[in-house]
Amino acid sequence: MEELRAKYIEAISQAADEATLEVLRVQAVGKKGEVSLAMRELGRMTPEERQIAGPRLNALKDEINSALAAKKEALADAALDERLRTEWLDVTLPGRRRPAGTVHPVSQVTEEITAIFADMGFSVAEGPQIETDWYNFDALNIPPEHPTRTEMDTFYMHREPGDNRPPHVLRTHTSPVQIRAMQAQGAPIRVIAPGRVYRADYDQTHTPMFHQLEGLAVDRDLSMANLKWCLEEFFAAFFGVAVKTRFRASHFPFTEPSAEVDIQCSWEGGQLRIGEGDGWMEVLGSGMVHPKVLQAGDIDPDQWQGFAFGIGIDRIAMLKYGMPDLRAFFDSDLRWLRHFGFSALQVPTLQGGI
Ligand code: PHE
Repeated sequence: MEELRAKYIEAISQAADEATLEVLRVQAVGKKGEVSLAMRELGRMTPEERQIAGPRLNALKDEINSALAAKKEALADAALDERLRTEWLDVTLPGRRRPAGTVHPVSQVTEEITAIFADMGFSVAEGPQIETDWYNFDALNIPPEHPTRTEMDTFYMHREPGDNRPPHVLRTHTSPVQIRAMQAQGAPIRVIAPGRVYRADYDQTHTPMFHQLEGLAVDRDLSMANLKWCLEEFFAAFFGVAVKTRFRASHFPFTEPSAEVDIQCSWEGGQLRIGEGDGWMEVLGSGMVHPKVLQAGDIDPDQWQGFAFGIGIDRIAMLKYGMPDLRAFFDSDLRWLRHFGFSALQVPTLQGGI
């Protein structure tokens, strides 16, 4: 009995894991274990012998069982200690940074322009980028053979022979939204329409997709003077300085009279400054809405008149934030986006009341 005791107590204390303990348990106190077999021998003993051997065997069985239980707990504690030692976490470390995106300059500038015109009572109108040639051209007084159709480098949508749906184009300007807005809202009306436009053209200042912002105001008594005030107010708020404008007589089929508008700038030392010097930079087209265009928008030209303008959003974003190449706007180069992009929390810079 002493031998059994020494053998198992020693083996249990040496056991390295729970599986070894289980093997020892079966060998010692399992149904066919050595202690259990010894207990079966009790039957063959004399009562006197049994009185001595019985309690000692029971005590041995208990001792082995408690040694097993104690060792099992010790192993579990050691395993936990090991886990705590290896799986520790320094809660004072700074968190992992999530790369934050930036607001694209085109989005930022669109927001800025929209906010400025909203202050002047203009609401935002929208139209489809795939437009019928009626809205893009005819309704704007550009008849089928008019040179403007080819000058605008139009992308035509493919049509199968025999397809009798009206021809569709990728809109070449935001002006078709004038027609849609007039049809939907009637007069009086004051809307701006920012959005994507498309022309087959590509160089440092032209990309096949770019952004325009259309403006349209129709009322009983509007003139070029209202247009000029509106635009000068806009430029002052947008650039943060009072900006002189120059209206140059021009031609658009959808406005009469028409004017291209330049803003004052200087190029001193190779650096462009808006609102200074005696240079001029063309930024938009404008004019009084042609009577035929009002008619196409279901508005009576004998009762109403209006002005309209179209600004290149990308162009004035380049001017305001000093971005030299338009093509980079649409390359999705993360370095460019991080450099020129805006924080989502950055509010548009608006200088009112100049
Ligand atoms: N749609 C013209 C263009 O794309 C701009 C414009 C808009 C001119 C409104 C006059 C009035 O060039």
